[in-house]
Amino acid sequence: MYQGDVVEEAPARTLFAEPRQDYTRKLLAAVPHLGHHSASEGLTSRAHQDEEVLVEANNLIIEYPGRLGTPAFKAVDRVSFTLSRGEVFGLVGESGSGKTTIGRAIAGLNRTTGGSLKVLGYEMLNLRERTFKPLRKDIGFVFQDPAASFNPQLSIGDCIAEPMVIHTKPSPAQARKRVGELLESVQLPSSYAGRYPHELSGGQRQRASLARALSLSPRGCS
Ligand SMILES: Nc1ncnc2c1ncn2[C@@H]1O[C@H](COP(=O)(O)OP(=O)(O)O)[C@@H](O)[C@H]1O
Ligand SMILES: [Mg+2]
Repeated sequence: MYQGDVVEEAPARTLFAEPRQDYTRKLLAAVPHLGHHSASEGLTSRAHQDEEVLVEANNLIIEYPGRLGTPAFKAVDRVSFTLSRGEVFGLVGESGSGKTTIGRAIAGLNRTTGGSLKVLGYEMLNLRERTFKPLRKDIGFVFQDPAASFNPQLSIGDCIAEPMVIHTKPSPAQARKRVGELLESVQLPSSYAGRYPHELSGGQRQRASLARALSLSPRGCS
């Protein structure tokens, strides 16, 4: 479908093997495949040239405290990896295996319990919020569930501008301009700034979430 209309209809095999419409061809060409047309294509060589390490985990342990005398739950048990500038790093595992816990710890949203996690050179074990706060603007975070990660009472424009308002304090005109650019960079009309989160489709909300994550030009994305 495109803008409310059915563009092409065919049995699945035919559609994937011989798409007839330009739009269908473009859609299928946009599907990433491991190794080619992938997000990391062209980036891996750059990552090797400039090995600035952004994230380094060493025997990382993350526990969630137990409730009412129950023991703590170890969600991450001695995990080690490094992530360099320009690199695309995929963490794969079944649900509940600890991926989100690690991602949130990198952004300073979860505390770590043991081992070491260095983010932009800063040790996250025994994180001190005051020391870490200046680094928050260098990290863009795309939350898993775009329906739950936007404040339903703020317009999309205000949601996207929120990190800027906290960290760089732009004038209202500057913020509006930047929000428009960010929306266009994720291929949403800039007029969507005035809509509320529930007025977007799930995929459009996830695009808006990408725009918010990019709003402060996080490190490694330039
Ligand atoms: N806030 C929490 N308190 C207690 N346990 C949690 C919490 N968040 C996640 N867990 C548990 O930690 C484990 C890892 O969760 P998570 O990192 O979200 O997994 P996933 O790999 O699916 O992203 C799961 O067993 C989950 O139930
Ligand atoms: Mg998860």
